[in-house]
Amino acid sequence: MDGRYVVTGGAGFIGSAIVRSLLREGARSVVVIDNLLSGRESNLEEIRRSVDFERADICEYEQIAPLIRGAAVVFHEAAIPSVTRSIEDPLPSHEVNINGTFNVLRAAQEGKAGRIVYAASSSAYGDTEALPKVETMTPRPKSPYALQKLVGEYYANVFSSVFGVEAVALRYFNVYGPRQDPSSPYSGVLSLFMKAILERRSPTIFGDGEQSRDFTYVEDVAALNLKAARAPNVSGKLYNGGNGSRITINEAWALLQRLEGIILPARYGPPRAGDVRHSQADMTAAARDLGHVPQFSFEEGVRRTLAWYRDGH
Ligand code: UD1
Repeated sequence: MDGRYVVTGGAGFIGSAIVRSLLREGARSVVVIDNLLSGRESNLEEIRRSVDFERADICEYEQIAPLIRGAAVVFHEAAIPSVTRSIEDPLPSHEVNINGTFNVLRAAQEGKAGRIVYAASSSAYGDTEALPKVETMTPRPKSPYALQKLVGEYYANVFSSVFGVEAVALRYFNVYGPRQDPSSPYSGVLSLFMKAILERRSPTIFGDGEQSRDFTYVEDVAALNLKAARAPNVSGKLYNGGNGSRITINEAWALLQRLEGIILPARYGPPRAGDVRHSQADMTAAARDLGHVPQFSFEEGVRRTLAWYRDGH
């Protein structure tokens, strides 16, 4: 794979998985842009010498423009995630997720990058009447985070149609897997649940636990990104990046208890503000246009992830 590949947020959970996939597929030049706010250099441990790690902030155009100039593909993963965090303190995520994304798009345009693949979010759908959620549905963001990610998507689309930047957006559905950081109250639910079960603690389930998510294994998301980077005629398009299935929060905790062979009832707390009730991706468009079919069942992904946390990570 010739050319230079840039991954913003490349020291993060999803970004570092994309970096690994790029190296596995033979990319010779991979630039990681990360300000290490939530990313960690240890996420790149064994591949640290194979990449060009640049500590830079997407909110600083002058820092990132020279790194993005002339790139074959830019995978834009840098963001401040979490629905809850964006409700408690909307300004930082607004600045990074909207203004930072604008900077990355502008750097891609001015630096004549070949393509940008944007990490969008399933939260943009909000509560839809029908499931699974299809790309043609009207977005109904319920939180600042959901709106910010949607604005990034629209911006990518406008940079494609107005400025001719090749841009593809992938709406990720609750990604989980090795290297997801369980240390913050804003962490993804499966990382929190896995930490809890390994420490033999009860987790807290917000609401009745019957809300559902399309949990998507990080390796599948990385594979989807590489396909989106290569597929012809996809500029300006949007694709779901999910697994296509739907698991309730209660079921997720039940599976972890079964895999660990223990019974440990969860505590229940009030529902979270801005929480979407059900989430499930229609993966037809990604299969049709990108040739992407998820490879990891929920149980397989959970087994692998649990093994990774158990190994002391
Ligand atoms: C949302 C997006 C997801 C995005 C993520 C980024 C949707 C459907 N998904 O995830 O695409 O990547 O933001 O942050 O909008 N929960 C508990 N106990 C806990 C933690 C969470 O019960 O300790 C529940 C939450 O209330 C929620 C579910 O688990 O119903 C998932 O929560 P979380 O992992 O935080 O992700 P979303 O907010 O769904």
